[in-house]
Amino acid sequence: MIFVPSYVRLARRSAHHAVGACVLALLLAGAARGAETRAQLTPLEQLGARLFVDTSLSEPRGVSCASCHDPAKAFSGVNGSTIPGVARGAPAGSFGLRKPPSLAYASFSPPFSFADKKDEETGKIEKQAVGGQFRDGRALDLAAQASGPLLNPVEMNNPSKAAVVAKVREGAYADLARAVFGKDVFDDSDAGFGKLMQALAAYEGTEIFHPFASTFDAVLRGKARFSPLEAKGFALFKDPKKGNCLACHVGEPKSRDPKDWLFTDFTYDTLGAPRNAAIPANAKADYFDLGLCRREGLADFAPKGFDVESVCGAFKVPTLRNVELTAPYLHNGALASLHDAVAFYATRDTNPERWYPKGADGSIAKFNDLPEKYHDNVNVKEVPYDRRLGQRPRLSERDIDALAAFLRTLTDKQGE
Ligand code: HEC
Ligand code: HEC
Repeated sequence: MIFVPSYVRLARRSAHHAVGACVLALLLAGAARGAETRAQLTPLEQLGARLFVDTSLSEPRGVSCASCHDPAKAFSGVNGSTIPGVARGAPAGSFGLRKPPSLAYASFSPPFSFADKKDEETGKIEKQAVGGQFRDGRALDLAAQASGPLLNPVEMNNPSKAAVVAKVREGAYADLARAVFGKDVFDDSDAGFGKLMQALAAYEGTEIFHPFASTFDAVLRGKARFSPLEAKGFALFKDPKKGNCLACHVGEPKSRDPKDWLFTDFTYDTLGAPRNAAIPANAKADYFDLGLCRREGLADFAPKGFDVESVCGAFKVPTLRNVELTAPYLHNGALASLHDAVAFYATRDTNPERWYPKGADGSIAKFNDLPEKYHDNVNVKEVPYDRRLGQRPRLSERDIDALAAFLRTLTDKQGE
């Protein structure tokens, strides 16, 4: 699974472009990473920043992008939801289906596509899904993504693009939008909406969303050192026979450039997460969130003959940067703590009773968030989850503590 397509690098470079061209300095009072953050934003990015925190852009009013993507939680969060794992939407009693991910470092995800992947054992080249936005990659990129929440009835619930454009036209920063896109920006609602989405994407591509300001980054730059426990965790993280985390949460071991350490390759994998019974949609026993295989238009991207059903249960590999701030974990928020998230990898197969309930016949209902016919899709080959019942886990409790300590070094420090 270790591969970083060249366009990931391209995306990295273009994400920086916008910041370099800054015109105005803006103190983002409370809008991002603490009031002390001084970020220089272009007018386009400033417009995106205003849109991002605008609570008038929901029906009823009160919910903005930042409600579910809170800067204090590395742009994740649940908008005050009392249901672990899923966010509260604008309409009373509405809840989502998946845990809102952190938006930090999301701009580095390349547009959704199928890319070449070399099988490390056989050397054969295969096509594999990579990139996109959302946990199933259903939006090509950030600009395409933003219309999702604005029009989603369980999120911001606007009836139409025209309704969103009208709110901005009547709102406090209409002149900024005109200054950026021309005075006729509001004349055509479809085109105007698309432009507003570009502004949101530009803002999400700024350094505010990827400061590379963690202890880990300081260590890379030679400005800090790991504690012995953190150093042990990092070693386990890289060790192909222990954590093997680097196989999917990718970084370039030889590089000291933080940008080579995104802790994801934006590919997809099936982990067999436990079902989160608290999600309202899961009250229906036959409801399953199948992830990538139900992505709209998947077949248009997939190579000829690709078995779409083989990716039922697959979700995008998330970055682990700031993972300390983004609990609960996995696409369905089924795991409450960072310790649990790491322990799940180690003991899913050796001690399944820790993670899954008993089924009707008294046996452990492993992979209970997927229909039986997709259980074979779950990754049981790769370290660390290549163990069997009764075998010793790849990671001991002490190893798990060390890994969690290492993961906490990935938290960006506010105001840096
Ligand atoms: C009510 C909560 C809620 C609101 C409001 C909300 N989001 Fe989200 N966001 C989510 C959830 C849930 C997901 C994951 C959904 C999925 O994967 O299917 C998500 C996913 C995303 C992603 C994909 C990130 C990735 O790594 O794949 C981006 C980007 C994003 N949101 C941006 C925004 C923007 C911009 C706004 C405002 C226009 C917004 N969101 C408003 C809940 C919300
Ligand atoms: C074969 C690929 C693969 C390997 C190896 C792997 N992961 Fe993951 N990891 C994933 C995927 C895919 C997800 C998201 C699953 C989901 O949402 O259901 C994930 C999710 C996570 C999460 C939850 C993040 C969040 O924001 O919800 C943590 C923490 C994590 N991994 C840590 C690790 C650690 C530590 C290791 C090594 C012990 C590791 N991973 C090894 C693919 C992998």
